[in-house]
Amino acid sequence: MKRYGPVFRTNLVGRPVVVSTDPDLNYFIFQQEGNLFQSWYPDTFTEIFGRQNVGSLHGFMYKYLKNMVLNLFGPESLKKMIPEVEQTTSKRLKLWSHQEGVELKEATASMIFDLTAKKLISYDQENSSENLRENFVAFIQGLISFPLDIPGTAYHKCLQGRKRAMRMLKDLLQQRRENPRKHRSDFFDYVIEELQKEGTVLTEAIALDLMFVLLFASFETTSLALTLAVKFLSDHPLVLTKLREEHEAIVKNREHADSGLTWKEYKSMTFTFQVINETVRLANIVPGIFRKTLRTIQFKGYTIPAGWAVMVCPPAVHLNPEKYEDPLAFNPWRWAGQELNGATKSFMAFGGGMRFCVGTEFTKVQMAVFFHCLVTKYRFEPIKGGNILRTPGLQFPNGYHIKLMEKDERHNST
Ligand code: HEM
Repeated sequence: MKRYGPVFRTNLVGRPVVVSTDPDLNYFIFQQEGNLFQSWYPDTFTEIFGRQNVGSLHGFMYKYLKNMVLNLFGPESLKKMIPEVEQTTSKRLKLWSHQEGVELKEATASMIFDLTAKKLISYDQENSSENLRENFVAFIQGLISFPLDIPGTAYHKCLQGRKRAMRMLKDLLQQRRENPRKHRSDFFDYVIEELQKEGTVLTEAIALDLMFVLLFASFETTSLALTLAVKFLSDHPLVLTKLREEHEAIVKNREHADSGLTWKEYKSMTFTFQVINETVRLANIVPGIFRKTLRTIQFKGYTIPAGWAVMVCPPAVHLNPEKYEDPLAFNPWRWAGQELNGATKSFMAFGGGMRFCVGTEFTKVQMAVFFHCLVTKYRFEPIKGGNILRTPGLQFPNGYHIKLMEKDERHNST
């Protein structure tokens, strides 16, 4: 940016791409989805996520899939899901508190994967001979890499993982088709119902690609956000105290202290949402959002020819001192009184426009419930790691270990 300004042309793993760090152009790109721009991802993404993954589909098919996903992760489903998320989280935290320490990224990834896999395909790691999650390793490294499919490369590892995971998903779907359930209870049941409908547009391949993307998109992103959030809370005791006050007040205001979180309580967590927003602003989990120009675009004196790849770069906006005072500081109070839903010109952690992340609310539910269980029942302290990596656009704690202790009423410090 310093050398070429806010919009410039570069090469990304051998492919020419226009990078936009300009908030107005970013916003324009999101608003013009399907008109002047179209979702487009490099070949590495499409090979790993499948050629028919939701990010590569457009028009009618895209809308159809988006509706399917919203059916699963929209507010109506999430309302019903809260007790399940709370139970799973409570169980995990209890387990961690009996351990010497936990590596938080791995531990939260496992927790979220189990929850999502159960919702999607009723997959239970404990009752399975193969570990489905194991196949999703090395994904982040493989997505933006040279597409060299030879042993030893991150790309090769990803493709192998994809092959194994897709075979497992296919087998599971087949088993389910042979033994259909009476009542629809997970996403597989829904998919099978859709596949059987006359004139359906859904194919098995599209459904399996969707399943694969959802599993990956849900556990890898949210576990990063949670790990970074805990690190920030441990580094900022004032924020932790304020968060704890919010959650203790929720419990105090109930008729029965252990009656479980409700949707109304979740919606009342103002400070919690500020913490979540501030965490994802700094985390920049998705460092680049890709599009292709459908026509030649003129914008602020720039010309982008038709058919070119464009990458919106959210970190450049999220860490811009003109948009955020002291941008590297973790300061949830900066969000006080601001709109915390959807995207703005200054906030695009979950994308924007028509393709705004369908998992946003699910992520928020999981994070809020996690905070609730953590701060009302436990104390924690970092025991190892937690160095923040500042590579361009990506920063998260590496090898962050914490020790969790049941909360002692007399000892109310961390
Ligand atoms: C901290 C957590 C998350 C972050 C930062 C995040 C970020 C994003 C971003 C930036 C996009 C836009 C991509 C684009 O415009 O090309 C997106 C799309 C998407 N996200 Fe998320 N996401 C998160 C959690 C989730 C979860 C939990 C799910 C699963 C339920 C999910 C599923 C999806 C799907 C299916 C899309 C594609 C939507 C489309 O193409 O319209 N995400 N996400």
